[in-house]
Amino acid sequence: MSLDKKVVLVTGGASGIGYATVNRLAKDGVHVVVADVQAALAADVVTQLKSAGGSAEVCELNVAEEGAAAAAVTSIVETHGRLDGAFNNAGIVGPKTKLLEIDPSQWAQVLAVNLTGVFNCVQAEIAQMIQQASGGSIVNTASICGLVALPHATAYNAAKHGVVGLTKSAALEYGPKNIRVNAVCPGFIDTPMLAQGAGASPKVLENILRSVPMRRVAGPEEVADVVAWLLSEQSSYVTGVAMPIDGGWVTQ
Ligand SMILES: NC(=O)c1ccc[n+]([C@@H]2O[C@H](COP(=O)([O-])OP(=O)(O)OC[C@H]3O[C@@H](n4cnc5c(N)ncnc54)[C@H](O)[C@@H]3O)[C@@H](O)[C@H]2O)c1
Repeated sequence: MSLDKKVVLVTGGASGIGYATVNRLAKDGVHVVVADVQAALAADVVTQLKSAGGSAEVCELNVAEEGAAAAAVTSIVETHGRLDGAFNNAGIVGPKTKLLEIDPSQWAQVLAVNLTGVFNCVQAEIAQMIQQASGGSIVNTASICGLVALPHATAYNAAKHGVVGLTKSAALEYGPKNIRVNAVCPGFIDTPMLAQGAGASPKVLENILRSVPMRRVAGPEEVADVVAWLLSEQSSYVTGVAMPIDGGWVTQ
C-alpha cells in the first residue's frame, strides 16, 4: 500500500472499527493520530501500537465540540507539517424508541456527535489539505442506516443519511483540489457498539444473522481493510461513494 509515512487522523480510534483501523494503518507505516473522547483508552491504544513497532500519538477530542477538531488539526500540522488523510469514524448509538418517544436532547446529542461531529472534522481537514495543496483522502463512517432505515433508530438513521449527503457534497466541491471524500457504510460489525445495540439480545442477533446474505456479522478488521484502501492511492479515482460493507444486506 502507498500509505507509508502518511499522517492520518482517526476519530473514535480507541475502540471497535476505529481501533481495528488504527492497527491496520500503523502496520501499513502510517503515523496514526488516535483521537477519541476516551483519552485514557486512546493512550493505551497508542502504547500498544508503539510497542508493536508502529508510529502513533494520542489526541483527546470530542468531535461534537465546536472548534475542537480544528484545534486537533492545527496541533497535528504544528508537529508534522501536514495532514494526508482522515477517518472520521467517532459515533454513538441513538435511542432505541419510536420517533414519538425521542427526547429532543437525545436527538440533539446523536446529531451532534454522528453528523455535526463529522462536519467539524471534514471542514477542518479540507481547509488544511487545501492549504497544503497536496490533495488528500477523507473517509467518513456512515452506516447501512445511511442508505436505508432501520426501525426504532430515527436519530441515528437521520444522522447517518446526513453523513452520506455531506460526503457527496464535499467530494463534489473539493474534487478539483484532488481531495477525495468517501463514506463507508458498515452493516453489522462485531464491536462494543453492536453489543450495546442490536446484539444486546441473542434473539435479535439471531434474526440479524438470518437476514444477512453472508449469514454472519463482520469483524472490524474487514471495515479497516476497506478504509485503508480508500485512504491509499490505490483508490485514486474513487470519490463521493457510500460503500456498503455489509455482507450484501442492503442489496435485498
Ligand atoms: N458496529 C456496527 O455494527 C456499526 C455499524 C454501522 C456503523 N457503525 C459506525 O461505526 C463507527 C464506529 O462504531 P463502533 O462500532 O466501532 O463503536 P465503538 O463504540 O466501539 O467505538 C466508537 C468510538 O467512538 C468514540 N466516541 C464516541 N463519541 C465521541 C466523540 N464525541 N468524540 C470522539 N470520540 C467519540 C468512543 O469513545 C469509541 O472509542 C460509528 O460511527 C458507528 O455509528 C458501526
